[in-house]
Amino acid sequence: MSTTILNHPLIDHKLTIMRNKETGTKEFRQNLDEIAMLMAYEVTKGLPVKSVEIVTPICPMTGKKLVRPVVLVPILRAGLGLVDGFKTVIPTAKVGHIGMARNEETLEPEEYYAKFPSCLPEADVLVVDPMLATGGSAVSAITNIKKRGAKYIKLACLVAAPEGIEVIEREHPDVDLVVAALDEKLNEKGYIVPGLGDAGDRLFGTDD
Ligand code: PRP
Ligand code: URA
Repeated sequence: MSTTILNHPLIDHKLTIMRNKETGTKEFRQNLDEIAMLMAYEVTKGLPVKSVEIVTPICPMTGKKLVRPVVLVPILRAGLGLVDGFKTVIPTAKVGHIGMARNEETLEPEEYYAKFPSCLPEADVLVVDPMLATGGSAVSAITNIKKRGAKYIKLACLVAAPEGIEVIEREHPDVDLVVAALDEKLNEKGYIVPGLGDAGDRLFGTDD
């Protein structure tokens, strides 16, 4: 498994807009959508391809084709904010959903919804969630996806705490992790510092 921290200038610029507490729902969504497209490019870099014989208008050649179907799995709710951007770059991707809610007292994640396409076991599965805080939601989501047969899994998160990265590396060493920005720490309520606040609430306007 590998962990990649992108530190990409365009993503950092857009992420700074998202982090600002003055940024409203519309701009928050728009920047997340744009970042998702950039992240999709990075996350899919290592996907396996196979040779395919084609004929261009000029001559025959050996081209490349993705080996496996791609399944996006947003962790509800906030992961939904990354789906459209990923689909723009991978329009053939199927989408599975998994609902994980963090109990705000215990910080333990609980699954409340799951629905996946039947190709999950043979697909490249891209699990997406803007926030990797304690890592509990992502660890449980990946465990549950593996129980349903998924084998080739990558996890893409916008902002991560060191604690979250550590727990993914420990609990799912076979999963490649791509993170746009690595933040400093978690606070006593399990929020990422400096972070961007509650991603789901800011995305869906339920933060008032
Ligand atoms: C947020 C976020 C992650 C989780 C990260 O979801 O989208 O799924 O917290 O925290 P963790 O790494 O400590 O588990 P939340 O549970 O707030 O649900 P929401 O997306 O419905 O707002
Ligand atoms: N979930 C969020 O939405 N934000 C955090 O900082 C931590 C968990």
